[in-house]
Amino acid sequence: MRYYDFLMDSVNFFGPGCVDVLGERCKILKMKRPLIVTDTFLEGMKEGPVEKCLDSLKKAGIEYAIYNGVEPNPKIKNCYDGLEVYKNEKCDSIITIGGGSAHDNGKGIGIAATHKGDLTSYAGIETLENALPPIISVNTTAGTGSEVTRHCVLTNSETKLKFVIVSWRNVPSVSFNDPLLMLNVPAGLTAATGMDALTHAIESYVSVDANPVCDAMAIQAIRLIATNLRPAVANGKNEKARENMAYASLLAGMAFNNANLGYVHAMAHQLGGQYDMPHGVANAILLPTVEEYNLGSNPEKFANIAEFMGENIKDLSVMDAAHKAVDAMRNLATDVGIPKTLKEMGVKEEDFELMAGNALRDGNAFSNPRVGKEKDIIELFRKAF
Ligand SMILES: [Fe+2]
Repeated sequence: MRYYDFLMDSVNFFGPGCVDVLGERCKILKMKRPLIVTDTFLEGMKEGPVEKCLDSLKKAGIEYAIYNGVEPNPKIKNCYDGLEVYKNEKCDSIITIGGGSAHDNGKGIGIAATHKGDLTSYAGIETLENALPPIISVNTTAGTGSEVTRHCVLTNSETKLKFVIVSWRNVPSVSFNDPLLMLNVPAGLTAATGMDALTHAIESYVSVDANPVCDAMAIQAIRLIATNLRPAVANGKNEKARENMAYASLLAGMAFNNANLGYVHAMAHQLGGQYDMPHGVANAILLPTVEEYNLGSNPEKFANIAEFMGENIKDLSVMDAAHKAVDAMRNLATDVGIPKTLKEMGVKEEDFELMAGNALRDGNAFSNPRVGKEKDIIELFRKAF
């Protein structure tokens, strides 16, 4: 027997057109001069997410400054560069516009603005002592869920290590998931971020910290992704598929924010740190291999996953049905065009040992349902190679 806590943003807008109320919400939060945290691509997009957000701010009479240096797998440097703009422009709050990289970069700026010392010294769980400035996260990809989570994932370029600052203080005040901001996401990024969301849902559903509240979210997320990711990748303008993927990624984010993740993320973080591999691609390649390894920890739940993903498990034994879940994950990744092996992504065998050791120390490793040793993780890297 044990109890659980459940954490998320206090206000969450979702659905087509919701971003129109961004400016009004800034007023309610008494934001005087938010720092917009985004990248140059989104900033330059005609009628894109940044333009729509700025329109809403202008209508509400909110002044702002912009930091547009967000990179994939955000680095510590991106946070300090953003902090400089935040200070020079006398900002009092933060609005992140983009996918997980923008949100994590923005959280990093908020931490750097309110905490002394280097950001790396705050790696770990509940290390933050001070309140961050108010953060609003406007999400533009159906993937990381960072707009509703307490995780801030950053990369230390010197050590090539990704580290996570996990704290309730990181949770944005408000999240926006407007699928109309996602219609122009390219197919490859849609596939990768969608597989990231699927990994969140599956890892949280089978996590040792899983609970009935998170399960409900994870189950619905798995169902939505299984039926909507292929159509969203095939035609990005499919509004229904985009809308359902936005809901799925929000649900999966809420689930893993509380039920935590597992070895897929623990290992994927090493691939992101070592090779700057896109997070969703790393997860998608590792997911079937790691979950096949995890099958025996909870065959019933894996059999359920097979069913949620549309597999016919009638008359199958529980274990046979569980194996169908792994097939379904592999088929979905293939259908949306994810590379099949780590080798194709430039991974080197000689790094397996180092990455396996670091993966077992990653904050996500402790909630994996099967307990492995370094040699097991090396073997998983080898199988996915
Ligand atoms: Fe993720």
